[in-house]
Amino acid sequence: MHDSSTPTLPDLKAIQTLLADDMAALDALIRRRLASDVVLINQVAEYIIGAGGKRLRPQLLLLAAAALGDGHGKGIGTDAHQLAAVVEFIHTSTLLHDDVVDESDLRRGRKTANAVWGNAASVLVGDFLYSRSFQLMVELESMTVQQILANTTNTIAEGEVLQLLHVRNPDTDEAAYLRVIERKTAILFAAATRLGALLAGADAITQQALHDYGLALGYAFQIADDVLDYASDAQTLGKNLGDDLAEGKMTLPLIHAMAHSDADTRAELRRIVEHGDLDGLATVQAAIARCGSLDYSRARADAYAEAAIAALAALPDNAHSAALRGLARYSVKRDH
Ligand code: IPE
Ligand code: IPE
Ligand code: MG
Ligand code: MG
Repeated sequence: MHDSSTPTLPDLKAIQTLLADDMAALDALIRRRLASDVVLINQVAEYIIGAGGKRLRPQLLLLAAAALGDGHGKGIGTDAHQLAAVVEFIHTSTLLHDDVVDESDLRRGRKTANAVWGNAASVLVGDFLYSRSFQLMVELESMTVQQILANTTNTIAEGEVLQLLHVRNPDTDEAAYLRVIERKTAILFAAATRLGALLAGADAITQQALHDYGLALGYAFQIADDVLDYASDAQTLGKNLGDDLAEGKMTLPLIHAMAHSDADTRAELRRIVEHGDLDGLATVQAAIARCGSLDYSRARADAYAEAAIAALAALPDNAHSAALRGLARYSVKRDH
């Protein structure tokens, strides 16, 4: 909850209006650069990219560039569009891989690519998008950009493997969870916003501030995602509810409920995590409700979103910096 002294920030609609021309240019660029003469690549890539997605990471990169440019969108040039496409390609390739690992069959309101074409096609087209992103990246001929993105993608891979190590481990605690989400999710947001600052010619301190903003927003975003996995519905979310539990993934609501349940319930939750499937969902949801674990998780997400906003304190006051603040709030208030 925010009191009445909290300034009103632009909502998603206002932010999309602000970026409408750039996002249209980005979409055209993405479609142009998806192309391959291998038919299956076009089919699968078009299928997942054509389903949309929120395009949050490119928006963040473009806003960071513009906020630090002349404040009227002038920080956004063709390099920013290109890097925005790179970031979205990396994100999309991780989704293709993630849905195979998580055995998910709904994404962006459609059957997942693995449900339609199988695991092999999803993994391989994910690799195509991932390497295409590097082709686009090197065209910019910036060693700094290449270093940031090489480190980022390597860290994401570490995060995914680290997460795998915690699957079906009921002893995973909040600290371990935070180490996973920093790597698998937050680091890409941090790279996006830092790259925006870099393109705008910002100094090292400002680049660090934008990195810190993106990282905190990324934590907030993933915690909110993990709440939605227990609290939304498939229609609104565009993904199936309970995917995390079905995979034995220890996310914050479940970790909190385990830590705050009585011994009997905790033993039951352990059993569900270690051996269970979705049959245990109602039991887990009841424990989560009794322990106030969704409210706890939402409060943690809110705190990260506010930390993200605080990292922007020294930014010039303009429509684009206000939009960055707005997206921090949106990342925790969203319903999908
Ligand atoms: C999904 O990301 C993966 C997470 C990090 C939770 P998004 O929620 O940004 O996915 P799209 O691109 O909008 O579908
Ligand atoms: C995010 O984790 C995975 C990536 C960073 C690719 P999730 O597994 O929670 O993402 P969703 O819920 O499937 O989108
Ligand atoms: Mg998943
Ligand atoms: Mg999820």
